Amino acid sequence: MLKTNYQTPMAFSSSTSVLFLVLISAMLSSFIFPSAANLYQHIDLTWGDGRAKILNNGDLLTLSLDKASGSGFKSKNEYLFGKIDMQLKLVPENSAGTVTAYYLSSQGPTHDEIDFEFLGNLSGDPYILHTNVFSQGKGNREQQFYLWFDPTADFHTYSILWNPQRIIFSVDGTPIREFKNSESIGVPYPKNQPMRIYSSLWNADDWATRGGLVKTDWTQAPFTASYRNFNANACTWTSGASSCTSNSPSSTASSSSGWLTEELDSTNQGRLKWVQKNYMIYNYCTDTKRFPQGLPPECAST
Ligand SMILES: *[C@@H]1O[C@H](CO)[C@@H](O)[C@H](O)[C@H]1NC(C)=O
Repeated sequence: MLKTNYQTPMAFSSSTSVLFLVLISAMLSSFIFPSAANLYQHIDLTWGDGRAKILNNGDLLTLSLDKASGSGFKSKNEYLFGKIDMQLKLVPENSAGTVTAYYLSSQGPTHDEIDFEFLGNLSGDPYILHTNVFSQGKGNREQQFYLWFDPTADFHTYSILWNPQRIIFSVDGTPIREFKNSESIGVPYPKNQPMRIYSSLWNADDWATRGGLVKTDWTQAPFTASYRNFNANACTWTSGASSCTSNSPSSTASSSSGWLTEELDSTNQGRLKWVQKNYMIYNYCTDTKRFPQGLPPECAST
């Protein structure tokens, strides 16, 4: 069908055929790349007075930070469960003192939150990937990692799988952290509050690099982080209803919602162990000094 359409523009006047070609290519790209989301459609630039930019027709987003301000964006949609991927390329060279945060969060004092935070460093020194999970306003569940590649040299995919049973953080498809639903032992789990994606690049040189010892070198400003290939395979939340509650027969093809029950198979459990053994530099679940009354209950099951 598309093939025959391609043969017809010759018959039209040139302006009509240009319009026609534009339409066809828009259709084609939505068939072939259903997930290569246009950032204009999904993202709102929220702060930084022009320091956040969507470029290349919606394919690329950049955040920048200088002495006067950082910048940030958020997703237009709210989600209640999803598998959300984005590619990030972090601030290159001397990024000490800067933090690039990329996270899901709901609103309010008892909010839920699932965080990736990238703590910058001097040229050649490793970034720290900091993660945390908040449920009903309570966090204190940090795990930190070094990466097995230079996150400033190229784009890499950072993913959050969030379903009713578990939260899995992944980097280039390799799971680095799993937070399981432990409601059965009394630990609140994020599952009732829709969340938005947020990201920001800001100055945190009071704590970010070597605990605040290394300060931001403003002669290197502006600092820039880049984003592309946003993909939310998710239940969107609109006016109190989830796109995944299938009262209407047309909603949610089951074939595309496998993530709703996804878990780590044995291969991925092995990869998670590999990361935790070789790249994890902090785990709240082993910090007995910090929790003298006993480790948080969910630590028993992970
Ligand atoms: C920065 O590099 C130092 C020295 O290698 C390292 O100890 C530290 O963990 C690195 N990352 C951050 C964010 O401080």
